[in-house]
Amino acid sequence: MDVQRVQGLAFSGLKELPEQFIRPAHERPENSKAMEGVSVPIISLSQPHDVLVKQVALACQEWGFFLVTDHGLSPSLTQRLQEVGQEFFRLPQEEKEAYANDAATGKFEGYGTKMTKNSDEKVEWIDYFFHFMSPPPKVNYGIWPKNPPAYREVTEEYNKEMVRITDELLELLSEGLGLEGKVLKSSLRDEEMEVEMKINMYPPCPQPQLALGVEPHTDMSALTLLVPNDVPGLQVSKDGNWVAVDYFPNALFVHVGDQIEVLSNGKYKSVLHRSLVNKERTRMSWAVFIVPPQEATIGPLPQLVNDANPPKYSTKTYAEYRYRKFNKLPQ
Ligand code: SIN
Ligand code: FE2
Repeated sequence: MDVQRVQGLAFSGLKELPEQFIRPAHERPENSKAMEGVSVPIISLSQPHDVLVKQVALACQEWGFFLVTDHGLSPSLTQRLQEVGQEFFRLPQEEKEAYANDAATGKFEGYGTKMTKNSDEKVEWIDYFFHFMSPPPKVNYGIWPKNPPAYREVTEEYNKEMVRITDELLELLSEGLGLEGKVLKSSLRDEEMEVEMKINMYPPCPQPQLALGVEPHTDMSALTLLVPNDVPGLQVSKDGNWVAVDYFPNALFVHVGDQIEVLSNGKYKSVLHRSLVNKERTRMSWAVFIVPPQEATIGPLPQLVNDANPPKYSTKTYAEYRYRKFNKLPQ
């Protein structure tokens, strides 16, 4: 199967954006600019616990998105993670193609580029690499990049940090709902909770004002923890307006995903977001998705539902949710 990679297109000396990347007028960044003078919440994890619970709960209610600092993740580990990812994308094309995914046959892990199914469907200016990081039975090291050789060691270490920070965040989010700290984590099935890595690679784009790196969406995860390189591009939606998220060294970008919105019965919001691309520079981001196992049943927590607050969402397995979202069926 021959796939046209965006990276290959970008470096072929292209001056104009090919048609399938040109967004409809209302979606174009030039026609949907971000609000000035508004910035996303930034929360230091080193504050007293009760202050933290309140700040996190407020950010989840009002934005579904926040940056965390003082999370204990070492800047040098993040830097190494970024280096091994960048090195992978610098490999010769045929070496990368050995990892090509094939969603049609259910092979979701590996190197990917979304393709158009029909001529009026638009595609995004992005290539990516996707794989599981935990729990161990889900991990297929065979698909992880073998090059650079440090990829595995660095990524395994990063995974441990993501699990540690997720535990801390889920506890704060639970308490912010007035529940015991362990409730959200146990709804995501504790040790069976899955952690996925998606490296997003947005090459320089000849006409960035007409394209999108990732179109507006909410994540179907419970939480997404992301670090970008220093090329800005992420925008989150707040009360119907786009807000640009500035680069903030060493901060972790936290997105509330659909599963937490459902569990919280809508008290916490799954953030609508998109990403823009850059004319000169390659933007990259490392998104870690925290998801329940496929067979986990997710619905509004019974503790949060009563006559005055009826369930706003149906209860279903994560597999079912995922199937519906991929196929754009109502939940
Ligand atoms: C995404 O939401 O899928 C990507 C966001 C980013 O690259 O910052
Ligand atoms: Fe996303």
